[in-house]
Amino acid sequence: MGRVRVHQHVNPLSPYYRQSPQPIDIAAAFANPENPLVLDIGCARGRFLLRMAEAEPTWNYLGVEIREPLVEEANRLAAEAGLTNLHYAFCNAMLWLERLLESIPAGRLQTVTIQFPDPWFKKKHAKRRMVNQEMVDTIAKHLAPSGRVFVQTDIEFLAEEMFALFRADDRFEESPTETNPFLVKTEREKAVEDKGLPVFRTLFTAKNGRT
Ligand SMILES: C[S@@+](CC[C@H](N)C(=O)[O-])C[C@H]1O[C@@H](n2cnc3c(N)ncnc32)[C@H](O)[C@@H]1O
Repeated sequence: MGRVRVHQHVNPLSPYYRQSPQPIDIAAAFANPENPLVLDIGCARGRFLLRMAEAEPTWNYLGVEIREPLVEEANRLAAEAGLTNLHYAFCNAMLWLERLLESIPAGRLQTVTIQFPDPWFKKKHAKRRMVNQEMVDTIAKHLAPSGRVFVQTDIEFLAEEMFALFRADDRFEESPTETNPFLVKTEREKAVEDKGLPVFRTLFTAKNGRT
């Protein structure tokens, strides 16, 4: 079967994408739901998580994506690969991440990745950008103590905008990194690096003993 064809972008503020998702049921999504969880927000076709899930079977991997056909395709490929530690959810993460994660047990979410989100370049489209105050707050609330958030993009202004939101939240501590700390690169990351273009990256850690 060929790759499913989709629109390059969807407007996250249009009525269809304002619908609330069901909270993720990790007991149904993963064979071993007690294992630590990695969340990739804006995972597109989900290949980053597919490779990670193959490489690290003692972790669970949850991809979140707004383009629904990509989610269906990615779940089909995960099932065909026999991976029971990988699941993808259709969700507009700029509005509904909190709802999606609300039933995840405390301490389970260990790693969050946000990689090359769409920049929505025009000022009039800034409200469509995926990473906003609400998302940062949701991540801070659910991330386990010492859990990590890795953020990377090739668009400098977007990097600064996203980094500033995390830096302003004192539940996080920044540990700058020039390299991707994971075993796998995303599709966009490979494309950008193949062109020799710079990537702006950083890592945040959830402080211990948060209130
Ligand atoms: C440029 S692609 C990068 C995909 C992948 N992370 C990579 O690095 O190759 C950005 C992805 O984020 C998704 N996305 C954008 N806004 C989103 C939102 N509000 N909620 C969930 N996914 C979103 C897009 O549909 C797209 O698949």
